[in-house]
Amino acid sequence: MHKHFSWLTAIIIATVAMFALVFGFDSHNNNASAASSNGNKTLIVYFSMSGTTKQAAQQIQHYTSADIVRLQRATPYPKGYDNYARVADRERRHNIHPAIKHNLPNLDQYSTVMVGFPTWWQQPPMVIHSLFDAYNFQGKTIIPFTTSMSTPMKASMPTMRRLARADGATIKNGFRYDDNNAQLRKFLQRNGLMNNN
Ligand SMILES: Cc1cc2nc3c(=O)[nH]c(=O)nc-3n(C[C@H](O)[C@H](O)[C@H](O)COP(=O)(O)O)c2cc1C
Repeated sequence: MHKHFSWLTAIIIATVAMFALVFGFDSHNNNASAASSNGNKTLIVYFSMSGTTKQAAQQIQHYTSADIVRLQRATPYPKGYDNYARVADRERRHNIHPAIKHNLPNLDQYSTVMVGFPTWWQQPPMVIHSLFDAYNFQGKTIIPFTTSMSTPMKASMPTMRRLARADGATIKNGFRYDDNNAQLRKFLQRNGLMNNN
């Protein structure tokens, strides 16, 4: 009789422990997903004034099938190269982070965010600072890309690294797109971002 009882106790304890384990694990998972990303999709966020970075972003979208969104200043820059260059120069000299449109999708579904921009004065435009002010990229992997007349990607990397790390994001070396699609494909492959087409 005594032996019977202890078997029963053992079974009850084991059952309760199993429930606790499953329940405990489950709530742990929920907490983890609430804290940062739970999806593994890639988002392309790009800023472009004269369309070159837009083309780069669209080419990346073609190869990755990632979601894509254009970053925009809340008040658009004035039209014409000299006019927007003057405003942008002022932002740069005074460290102004211009207000942006909050048009990004919910970031929970993304684990990787590719951030594209034209290189301006060897640096990312100030709207990229605004992007990191407005959105939290904690736990995500940031992969920058740029277009420029000649300045290499690495010129903007210290700034990008600082912005990403301040957010608790991981940063990868970026890519300067110059219409060389073979190089782009290699870069995307290296980062595990190519789709299967
Ligand atoms: C205000 C301004 C500053 C620029 N500074 C640089 C630079 O430092 N180095 C460079 O190689 N190109 C520079 N460029 C050229 C742009 O990076 C290049 O034309 C870029 O592809 C434009 O991208 P978008 O068409 O997406 O705006 C500059 C262009 C502008 C308008």
